[in-house]
Amino acid sequence: MAIVCAFILLPVLFCGAIYLPTKKRTVEKMVELSGIRPGEIAVDLGSGDGRLVISLAKAGAEAHGYEINPLLVLVSRWNIRKAGLGGRAFIHFKNFWKEDFSQFDIIAIFGISRAMEALERRLKKELKIGARIVSNAFPFPDWQYAKKEDTVFLYKKL
Ligand SMILES: C[S@@+](CC[C@H](N)C(=O)[O-])C[C@H]1O[C@@H](n2cnc3c(N)ncnc32)[C@H](O)[C@@H]1O
Repeated sequence: MAIVCAFILLPVLFCGAIYLPTKKRTVEKMVELSGIRPGEIAVDLGSGDGRLVISLAKAGAEAHGYEINPLLVLVSRWNIRKAGLGGRAFIHFKNFWKEDFSQFDIIAIFGISRAMEALERRLKKELKIGARIVSNAFPFPDWQYAKKEDTVFLYKKL
């Protein structure tokens, strides 16, 4: 019980961090719409079990994930090792709000619905020209998306 509290309930209580995995078909759609090219740097903000990070790395990116739930950090690092992507996919046990987004070419987002307005402001300010954002299910309030397929919104920093 104590372990459940430490690993699952505390991140939810203190950070509002609910875990819900993206469906496999949607992960594929997000990677496809991102138009990722080998050598680009990608990040999943709130990386869960690492499924998006793994798919982005398989598509040729140097892929990073930020995750505040320590149990999911362990699981995702294990999944990355199992997939043989140790040198290309990295999970950081960190709050993504404290990071600088300017190094990334691709940003993947799912499930931080309450923060889309604040995230839009940060990304518009920090991302480099040409960077793309793929958001599953939740659009930004003001940013006009470049494309929408199924539940995935694609944004481009022009
Ligand atoms: C809805 S899940 C999505 C997981 C994964 N991206 C996927 O698509 O399968 C959202 C994840 O974001 C994490 N999270 C929420 N806020 C965060 C923050 N500020 N920093 C890092 N991770 C965060 C949660 O712990 C949770 O695992």
